[in-house]
Amino acid sequence: MANDFIVPNWHPLFIHFPIALLVLGFLIEIITFARPRGGFRAAGRWMLLLGAFLALPATTSGIYAFRDVAAPAQLDVDQHWHQVLATNSWSPGHWDAISDHIWYNSGAVVLFLAAVGVWLGSSDKWRCTLRLPLLAVVLVGLVLMSIGAWHGGELVYKFGTGVEPGAPAGGSTAGHGLTWYIPPLQLHLVLAGFAVALVVAAVALMVRRWQLDRRVPAPAAPLTEGQPVAPGIMALDVPAGAGQPIGPASDLPQNRDQQPVAPPSEVYPGWFWLGAFGLAIVTAVAGAWAALGVFSKAAFREGLEELRQADHRRLALHVALGVLIIVLSLFLAALVRFARRWRRPAGILAGLVLLLIAWQIWVGVLITFDSPEGSLFRFAAVTQAGEPATMPPPAAPARTPVPQPSPSTEPVRGSPAASQQPAAAPPPTAPGAAPHEEIGT
Ligand code: HEM
Ligand code: HEM
Repeated sequence: MANDFIVPNWHPLFIHFPIALLVLGFLIEIITFARPRGGFRAAGRWMLLLGAFLALPATTSGIYAFRDVAAPAQLDVDQHWHQVLATNSWSPGHWDAISDHIWYNSGAVVLFLAAVGVWLGSSDKWRCTLRLPLLAVVLVGLVLMSIGAWHGGELVYKFGTGVEPGAPAGGSTAGHGLTWYIPPLQLHLVLAGFAVALVVAAVALMVRRWQLDRRVPAPAAPLTEGQPVAPGIMALDVPAGAGQPIGPASDLPQNRDQQPVAPPSEVYPGWFWLGAFGLAIVTAVAGAWAALGVFSKAAFREGLEELRQADHRRLALHVALGVLIIVLSLFLAALVRFARRWRRPAGILAGLVLLLIAWQIWVGVLITFDSPEGSLFRFAAVTQAGEPATMPPPAAPARTPVPQPSPSTEPVRGSPAASQQPAAAPPPTAPGAAPHEEIGT
């Protein structure tokens, strides 16, 4: 487990956003059921949108947290998962709790993203039609998330997951390097969560934009209740046909319920693709920081050398996928801005980006949990001798050392220095190994 500034990791920082925002947003949706227009409803919608998208960094920080707390030692990506499990001492009940926590929350996140993505990408008409079914999906997601979060609480307060044993040492924080405050791999995963959230939003807004572009431009008449205020994203599900013209401004104070929601500003998918492009670059830089430990010419040369080695093909694929995601996001930003009629190529490319992201997350999980070497699709199998089939001979170090300029005496997480640490020797029979298999293998 980590010995960083924030103990045990950043997961508890991010989880409260989706929980609070989604629950409140849903309640506001219910409270304003009969009065769909108004700022309160719009605020609730924003909460649902932000809550669903912020569930992504909560999830990627959770992936890091799981690997972080699964072993008592400092996180070392060069260890295979079965080696991590060999040092793990959790009871079967503890494993059940984490397994339930992960499955319930992952299911909830998929439902939230599906509901919000469909809503964001729909035309005004479809937003009206799908309102209740999508609310039902959010409700199921909330139930799953509540159960998952309850298991999360059990993990910490019942099983002591990630809790420092004994009294904290306290004292001065002086002498720690930057990586103690901002562990690069943890930063990398959280940024990846934000980048993926922006891609999902960009795809949904792109689909919506196609439908808005097809529409005949509305006459420049004053806004009437029941008239959709396209092409914004918030106040678009007003029941059609209400049709009462809105009175002059002087009427509004007496007639608050009739106030329209101000037409929101336009939302351009190109900005979201551009944002995803920028965040993916920052994510990649953080990934390189995690992998190289230091930014220098020598480190980059060593890193490139490593990527060419066959035993680092997971990392090589991860970098290749990362570059593709970055390039395609920029290309899509230009496409939706300058070639709006090219819907089919844009749609195909956007679908491709989503597939690449899914693979990228999986390869990232493989590297985080099961080292940069091995199969591109599954965890390393354990041979009868207790070593993975793909393990190199013990004499060969997994990484080439790169000089560390940091004055910190602690190894940089995921850095060559960290990887030089002797992996905890796995006992022949790992305690509690059997229940682990359902999660990682
Ligand atoms: C939106 C999704 C998620 C939510 C809302 C959530 C919620 C929670 C909550 C409420 C806790 C208890 C923390 C506390 O009371 O301080 C927790 C802990 C934990 N969660 Fe999650 N979780 C999510 C996703 C995940 C995922 C996907 C994983 C692993 C793959 C994960 C792994 C953990 C771990 C290992 C802990 C123990 C404490 C720690 O190491 O930070 N979580 N989570
Ligand atoms: C937009 C998404 C992502 C991009 C663009 C990206 C890009 C990168 C890059 C460029 C590296 C540096 C590789 C090197 O220099 O050798 C890296 C490393 C890494 N990434 Fe990602 N990544 C993304 C998402 C993820 C996710 C979701 C995970 C985990 C679930 C992950 C886990 C890792 C790990 C474990 C490393 C290696 C760190 C080390 O060796 O210490 N990445 N990534």
